[in-house]
Amino acid sequence: MTIDLILGDCLKFIKTLPDDSVKAIVTDPPYDFSQEERNIFQAEFRRICKTGAIIVFCPPENLWQEKCDQNCFWIKPISTKNTSKSYSRFVEQIQIWNGETWNADGHWSQYTNVFTDLVDGKWHPYQKPLSLMQRLIRNHTKPGDYILDPFAGSGTTCISAQTLGRNSRGCENEYITFENMKYRIDKEGLKYSEITL
Ligand SMILES: C[S@@+](CC[C@H](N)C(=O)[O-])C[C@H]1O[C@@H](n2cnc3c(N)ncnc32)[C@H](O)[C@@H]1O
Repeated sequence: MTIDLILGDCLKFIKTLPDDSVKAIVTDPPYDFSQEERNIFQAEFRRICKTGAIIVFCPPENLWQEKCDQNCFWIKPISTKNTSKSYSRFVEQIQIWNGETWNADGHWSQYTNVFTDLVDGKWHPYQKPLSLMQRLIRNHTKPGDYILDPFAGSGTTCISAQTLGRNSRGCENEYITFENMKYRIDKEGLKYSEITL
């Protein structure tokens, strides 16, 4: 299995990918994109991932898209939101489109859409739990599939994919964050290649 890392703007990278060339997109974009920007990304996601699952984290009050096929929720133990004049946010929404693959193993506990996984270590301010990413990847992709995370951060999606026998590509546009992701993947004892944009 391979992990390919790309330093640079993911939209530029995505535009180099052929139609229907990605088996799944599992990603956690910055929460401050305008709806116009999100629509541009979503159109590209749908172009490169025609039948596989598109899985996007977003805040419940500012959804990635108004409509989706399925919703999951991650109840997080500690909110990262400034609470001086507002309620704290303890839940992130996970919007899902498509998803012809469904590998839940039949036990009822696999069918809940509310998760409470804990984050592993301190690699990124907006880090997501490996176990949560692994659950989503295991349920919605097959071994050997190629998964893209356009907003890779500290590489949680890529590490999760690799541990489940899936190939992945992760794009990150901040140099320090990119270097940190490489260091984390190294520390996990995993190998990666770099692709130049
Ligand atoms: C919410 S964080 C992802 C955190 C990740 N899920 C983790 O567990 O570490 C989003 C990341 O996307 C990166 N980013 C923002 N705009 C980008 C772009 N246009 N292309 C690539 N990466 C981008 C940010 O630098 C940030 O590290």
